Amino acid sequence: MEQFALDAIARITTRPPEVYDTIAVSPLTPLTGAEVSGLDLSKELTDDQVTEVKRAFLAHHVLVFRDQKLSGEDHKRFAGHFGELRPVEPPPEEGDPYILDVVATKDSKAVAGAGWHADGTADAEPSLGSMLHVTRTPEPGSGGDTLFANMHLAYESLSPAIRTLLDDLTAVHDGLIAWQGHTPPPGYVVAKSEHPVIPRHPETGRQLLFVNGAYTSHIPQLSRAESKAVLEMLYAHIATTPMLHVRVRWEPDTLVFWDNRCVQHHATWDYFPHSRHARRVAINGTRPRA
Ligand code: SIN
Repeated sequence: MEQFALDAIARITTRPPEVYDTIAVSPLTPLTGAEVSGLDLSKELTDDQVTEVKRAFLAHHVLVFRDQKLSGEDHKRFAGHFGELRPVEPPPEEGDPYILDVVATKDSKAVAGAGWHADGTADAEPSLGSMLHVTRTPEPGSGGDTLFANMHLAYESLSPAIRTLLDDLTAVHDGLIAWQGHTPPPGYVVAKSEHPVIPRHPETGRQLLFVNGAYTSHIPQLSRAESKAVLEMLYAHIATTPMLHVRVRWEPDTLVFWDNRCVQHHATWDYFPHSRHARRVAINGTRPRA
């Protein structure tokens, strides 16, 4: 592995140990993701607990909470500690406007999120984070894992020459790409926005790679052919660099909270014709800035 990639890993693996008083935080890999225990999310959390969860979130980007029996109200209350709740788009015809049912059964033709992406990047202010609560795992007892990829590390493990090329570029994110041949409901305005290719995380200031195959259409400063080649190179880097990845195995009543600003995720549909049931609540974010 190249020295710049090793340096990127070492910056994370040699940081001082984290100390928590109200929660236990157990990393899933040295680089990304952690299981958090010691909390019952169906109860009101103390300020200290919320502060420590926020600290763990910024350090690990993907937090896994096991054995959480949650109502929709519990789920929304927990999400509300991190920002304003983000309405489901397009608005559901029935049910809670902030809770997206993520369900796949033997009758499904596709599953949500089966490609590397972050949620809502075509919006002018993309999502801060999403909380997925799986209530029913596929009947065989496994399957439907979600994969996550660390976009700080994706950027930092590129060569300095490619990083310099990307640093001043923007990319157009077009919500129509995600509709893939389906027609949006009448009157629904599909979002389209231009964001820096390499924004800084608004809370940590750390740079990250912010393009994804589900929403990014092109890099307007490049020719179409150059833009396609650069984006394909970056998507291949994200998909084929295992150290960027962590794979979360679901159990019933697991909630995962991920940072859409600096991780991408990918659903796995390896359980057909069985079913998986989940609910997602998302949190509003801010405009990405370089
Ligand atoms: C999503 O893309 O939000 C869904 C992820 C999953 O169901 O694993």
